[in-house]
Amino acid sequence: MNSSKGRFITFEGGEGVGKSTQIHRLAKVLRRRGLDVLVTREPGGSQGAEAVRNVLLSGAAEEFGVRMEALLFAAARSDHIEEVIRPAIEEGAIVLCDRFMDSSRVYQGVTGNLEPQFVNHLERIAVNGMTPDLTLVLDLPAETGLKRAKLREGKNAAPDRFEKEELATHEKRREAFVDLTRSEPDRCKLINAGQAEDVVALAILNAVEDILDESVPQAAAQDGKA
Ligand SMILES: Nc1ncnc2c1ncn2[C@@H]1O[C@H](COP(=O)(O)OP(=O)(O)OP(=O)(O)O)[C@@H](O)[C@H]1O
Ligand SMILES: [Mg+2]
Repeated sequence: MNSSKGRFITFEGGEGVGKSTQIHRLAKVLRRRGLDVLVTREPGGSQGAEAVRNVLLSGAAEEFGVRMEALLFAAARSDHIEEVIRPAIEEGAIVLCDRFMDSSRVYQGVTGNLEPQFVNHLERIAVNGMTPDLTLVLDLPAETGLKRAKLREGKNAAPDRFEKEELATHEKRREAFVDLTRSEPDRCKLINAGQAEDVVALAILNAVEDILDESVPQAAAQDGKA
């Protein structure tokens, strides 16, 4: 748990699972309770990182290989953490981030076939101790998610660098998100994103309330044990 009053919560999962929808719903509920909430996203979220976002999502970096892409994601993440996320957490805000380090593990690590050691090193450098207090992994068959994303964008919208990949790749990512949730059950919570929006929102709020209730001294004690 982050030592100050703030909390760092990330939303993960494949394309179209409802991350953005649910982040905005949660932000509204928490703000109504008088809490200070910052909504942000990756890649991007800070001035430096937003500049890199365009390079990554347009596919401009694709031809230079997955290592180059991973390094750019890490550069963007580092800027985002140091310029935006850490200062907000230190001031006591609840930071809700749309995608974070788990997307790198899955997209560059698992389906990008990048060596785990390389992914781990980059993660450590970029995250620099700012591990999420809670990661909500929204789970849905890849086909359903892609259909939702397509509906949202309209038939003629061009898919981005990652959306255009094959269904089998998207399914592999879904499995990887489930695996990593199981491997870090204290941090990650799997949410069935195939349910109605309100039901998903409630499951998310329950998980968030659990970590908001945890007092800082208790959390510090847990950190000490880890
Ligand atoms: N529980 C739900 N049931 C049905 N449709 C949903 C649900 N949640 C979100 N949607 C719709 O699915 C579409 C995709 O949702 P959203 O944009 O929130 O997903 P996302 O995970 O942020 O996608 P991306 O990875 O592309 O950013 C939107 O049109 C949204 O209104
Ligand atoms: Mg989104």
